[in-house]
Amino acid sequence: MRRRLIAFCLAIGAALVFVGAAAAGNGGFAPPSPHSPNAGRINDSYKLIALFTGIVLILVEAALVIFVVRYRHRGRPRRAAGPQVHGATRLELIWTAIPVLILAGIASFVLYELPGIKDVPKARAAGDQIAVRVDAHQFYWQFTYPNGAVSIDELHAPVHRVVTLDIHSRDVDHSWWIPELDGKFDAIPGKTNHTWFRADRVGTYRGQCGEFCGIFHAAMKARVVAEPRAAYERWLGTKAKSDLGRSEWIGACAKCHGLGGQGDYGPKIVASPLLTDRQGLETLVRNGRDQPNIPGVMPPVADGWTKQQFDALFAYVGKKVVGGGG
Ligand code: CUA
Repeated sequence: MRRRLIAFCLAIGAALVFVGAAAAGNGGFAPPSPHSPNAGRINDSYKLIALFTGIVLILVEAALVIFVVRYRHRGRPRRAAGPQVHGATRLELIWTAIPVLILAGIASFVLYELPGIKDVPKARAAGDQIAVRVDAHQFYWQFTYPNGAVSIDELHAPVHRVVTLDIHSRDVDHSWWIPELDGKFDAIPGKTNHTWFRADRVGTYRGQCGEFCGIFHAAMKARVVAEPRAAYERWLGTKAKSDLGRSEWIGACAKCHGLGGQGDYGPKIVASPLLTDRQGLETLVRNGRDQPNIPGVMPPVADGWTKQQFDALFAYVGKKVVGGGG
């Protein structure tokens, strides 16, 4: 009776382990709903593989439990040898052939889907596609648009248009990943990776750096704002510029020094004379500062920035941080 109770409790416990995941969106086990053709294909591949591996898991575990219960020792001496079985040709052929067929099925499906995941759809007309450069920094994403506009951590894109991404890293390995729009692509120093997406509806798609890259890896989030073409053009033409300083402060400075510069992991900087010294500030954020034996040394956060970017940061800091506007 007691053993049954223990077994019952264990079974309930095992079921509860999965409850949270099962209650989450998409059943908890599936990737988020795709909103780009390549993400759709990745999703389909995931589901096919999950189907086969799920069936195999259930069959194997069920057989294991059945055998454990059915052939338990029932008071026989522990050292008594069971009947010796040699060879079961038919069974062995079956358990070899079925896995081969399953793996061949999975491989064929993935190879069939792969071109649609990897290859950028052909442009139907000039200007149909938008090429954005992605630079990963510790600890933010920088996007550079065809007209030279820059944004930080938030990528703006027109809906229903193909956006191609060239992914670079300025320092260590990061990984670009917006699950609803595309697969995971590493950002590697010295190497350019390519991906693309075509958002199928207006909305904000969230992602996260997928490669542990240092102390603020978890804060290295990205969002893609897909908007109607006209709104995108408007943003690109005017808003991108006025948003820049603020997004630089939030993306590159505040993660470490706090939103008001009050200090967080990094030291308090709100009263630093460098904030009102254009050249000093530029030199510091461009080159970082080497301080051996001091944890959290100032990294070269603004490596590769343009003059326009430094100007935007300086203007924002002067007005909002030093000026106390937050
Ligand atoms: Cu960048 Cu993790």
